[in-house]
Amino acid sequence: MRSLRTGSSLAALVTGAALLFTAPAAHAADTPLRDLAAAKGKVIGTAVTGSKLTGTYGDIAGAQFNSLTPGNAMKWGTVEPTQGSFNWTEADQIVAFAQAHNQQVRGHTLVWHNQNPSWLTNGTWTSAQLSSLLQNHIGTEVGRYKGKITAWDVVNEPFNEDGTYRSTLWYNGLGADYIPNALTWAHAADPAAKLYINDYNVEGVNAKSTALYNLVKDLKSRGVPIDGVGLQAHLILGQVPSSLQQNIQRFADLGVDVSVTELDVRMALPSDSTKLAQQAADYKSVLNACVAVTRCAGVTVWGFTDSDSWVPGTFPGYGAATPYDENYAPKPAYYAIAEALGGTTTTPPTGACTATYSVTSQWNTGFTGQVTIGCSGASLSSWKASWTFGAGQQITQAWNATCSQSGTAVTCTNASYNGSVPDGGSVTFGFNASWSGSNPAPTVTLG
Ligand code: XIL
Repeated sequence: MRSLRTGSSLAALVTGAALLFTAPAAHAADTPLRDLAAAKGKVIGTAVTGSKLTGTYGDIAGAQFNSLTPGNAMKWGTVEPTQGSFNWTEADQIVAFAQAHNQQVRGHTLVWHNQNPSWLTNGTWTSAQLSSLLQNHIGTEVGRYKGKITAWDVVNEPFNEDGTYRSTLWYNGLGADYIPNALTWAHAADPAAKLYINDYNVEGVNAKSTALYNLVKDLKSRGVPIDGVGLQAHLILGQVPSSLQQNIQRFADLGVDVSVTELDVRMALPSDSTKLAQQAADYKSVLNACVAVTRCAGVTVWGFTDSDSWVPGTFPGYGAATPYDENYAPKPAYYAIAEALGGTTTTPPTGACTATYSVTSQWNTGFTGQVTIGCSGASLSSWKASWTFGAGQQITQAWNATCSQSGTAVTCTNASYNGSVPDGGSVTFGFNASWSGSNPAPTVTLG
């Protein structure tokens, strides 16, 4: 056995594209969420950013979810930044990824008061012009993805908190008829797509959700194509409305589907194990409510990793709102989702520490790698990371850990100064190694 001590990297000047691989988390749940959801006839989705759909982010998005929602890529301001000049790049990319991974796509969103192009919001339009702009927009976008979108959030956020209509470009210019018109135009462009109205703070029974309820009832009675309501569910820790299931049920009883479309549960930062446990309970309540109602189609999380969440940028001081931490380690909320979908997890859902392996540079005979050990809802006072180098790789040097290799088996233990990994924290160590032929990423086990 060769023992290698802490030293400094001689490979600092190596150039070339950085390669990133992530070993599966040591304590990932046994069955992917999408398989658990499918067995219950439910959708488990995530909002995604198209440019990130490679590496670990792409691996998790593809493996764990059976539905994708473009977080921003299909909004009017993204697809038509200049009037008549379209940019479908990111939307196309997400749809192609979804098709390659046998996933549904939720189209989001066609008629909204936010993230519209400035040529539209700054223009002066007659009602007739506004109406035809909206009709063309819907026809163009829905038509482009005809047959590829399971459900469209046709109208987004039409109501005020008191249940009156929100004063927007659309309501002010076209009156409340913009809603049935938008639905009718979307239906003409893709008769198979399920058409939704989507809003926030409509998860429980309250004035706003009742206004939505009355609108859907009225639309149904008039024969307007409305298939579902989206409950965004941007929730605050410990504040899942107690009437959530009852509210889902009352919409279902109207004869429409219900989807939780943008679930996240934000907490005041920093996170700790108590908050993460509460967050897991909150995620579980939401999933349980959906599982309990046949017409609840499923749940989409608004970003699956804390590194791709809108929360910190929108609610200062809040974050940690998604089921995976910033290092892609599943949090207690992840295990809670799995359990609500009927899965069993091998790890107590109180938390986990996981190891992520990556190659940071590689050249013809050698490479530099690193392993990050991150804890969420758990902590470590010392650690040992082990893996198998199955393709003949050989460690030559390590830093911030003591590594030894015997045959194909590599074991690295903490240095004197970095054995402690706090809840919510991480430690990284690095190494140089030789390779030839191929350099597959191993799975790192913590023990
Ligand atoms: C958010 C995106 O996640 C952010 O990246 C963007 O800066 C603002 O919009 N309700 C919605 C979503 O319907 O479209 C919003 O998405 C979050 C609130």
